[in-house]
Amino acid sequence: MSIGKLNHFNVAFTDRSKRSSKYSGYRLSQIPEPDGELTRIGPGTICGEYFRRYWHPVAMTRQLGDLPKLIRIMGEDLVLFRDRSDRLGLVHRHCPHRNASLEYGMCEDRGIRCCYHGWLFDVDGTILEVPGQPIKVSQKICGTLRLGAYPTREYKGLIFAYMGPPEKQPEFPLYDTFDLPEMEMVPYTAHYRCNWLQVLDAIVDPIHTSFLHSRASRPQFSQQLGELGVLSFYHRPLRLIGLNTRRVNDHIWARVNEMVFPNFTQAGAAFATDGTAVRYFGRSAFTRWVVPVDDHNTVALAWANFGERGDPPQYNTADGPELIEQGEVIDRSYEERQRFPGDAEAVEGMGPISVHKREHLLPSDKGVAMLRRQLKNELHELKQGNEPAQPMQILPTPVPTYGSDTVLRLPKKEDADDSSYLQAVGDKIMDILFAADRFTGAQRDEWLFQQLKDLETRGSV
Ligand code: FES
Ligand SMILES: [Fe+2]
Repeated sequence: MSIGKLNHFNVAFTDRSKRSSKYSGYRLSQIPEPDGELTRIGPGTICGEYFRRYWHPVAMTRQLGDLPKLIRIMGEDLVLFRDRSDRLGLVHRHCPHRNASLEYGMCEDRGIRCCYHGWLFDVDGTILEVPGQPIKVSQKICGTLRLGAYPTREYKGLIFAYMGPPEKQPEFPLYDTFDLPEMEMVPYTAHYRCNWLQVLDAIVDPIHTSFLHSRASRPQFSQQLGELGVLSFYHRPLRLIGLNTRRVNDHIWARVNEMVFPNFTQAGAAFATDGTAVRYFGRSAFTRWVVPVDDHNTVALAWANFGERGDPPQYNTADGPELIEQGEVIDRSYEERQRFPGDAEAVEGMGPISVHKREHLLPSDKGVAMLRRQLKNELHELKQGNEPAQPMQILPTPVPTYGSDTVLRLPKKEDADDSSYLQAVGDKIMDILFAADRFTGAQRDEWLFQQLKDLETRGSV
């Protein structure tokens, strides 16, 4: 689908009586309830159950020292710790004896010991010791009680957890971008004070890059991203893709945003390209999960990708990942946030949980509509007892992803509509990316590069 230029946004709303009269504040002042089914993720909610079928990052390795760390994920207060045998534990915060918080516990050779009366817990929640009690009592407690605990996996500086039913624990997903040659993957985290779905929405809303990140205040990535270009959206098993194809002088720049359900996201580079030089399948600036902290807080846990295929190594600084994540550094004055808003301002400004009934979705919001529709389907299926698909079950290994920039030297064609040309080239590039799924690693890149070069040489689709 193409949205072309700005005049496509001048749509007429059907319900004119409510929206077109002047000074309509009073009539529009009643605010509907948010969509609780899609947004609430605490224990026992349907969306919470759905999220609890997947692995999610919950912290960065560098956030965890020799002391336990209190974290909150999907509305659960948890304690993450590393025992003195270097084993990770992720357990419920409160001790099952009398609810003392294990954030004040002692990491031991095996497990964590509650500070209050010394109960000792293994990383899997097994109670190992109940000191100071008759042996029979202690044995009974150890044999019958458990501390809530979740399996963890540490990978390249991120700590992941699976918080669902143990018998449904899926394989840890391996994506192609986990292992790109000569890429430095730098873990980072960004906190958003709002519901996870409005943070995730942005990835399937590629046109916000032209406004928020370019036209609204200042070019946060590159001036050329302010060019609107044309949009296409694709739905593949477990995946949604938003493609924005722009003209930059004699070049066509196809930038691919993607998500894998429920919350894995990648896009093009932040700073590696401005569309003025040829680039074949440059990879995502970030490999990122949008993780609910609770219904009103979200954390992006991610790697920023630096190298030839990612962002330039000079952005591998203290602020670099934040700039890549949302266009501006996160911790700054209110005035600066007003003058130069980034993603945090855009999505937090919607309120703790954005009310979808107040929105007016337009053609450029097609990705957002697709995401919500598919999420509703996933929740409906789970309610019927049908377990959600896992990337490692239904996709090749490693899972091929598409978040990328491709810039081809393809000047405007005389006597041809350039928007249609951009659309056709963008769609062709996606055809090539999808067709490359049958290859992996260097072979995939080699095949892709050749196909993209051929397309550039041909100049026609
Ligand atoms: S509250 Fe933890 S051992 Fe008593
Ligand atoms: Fe953004």
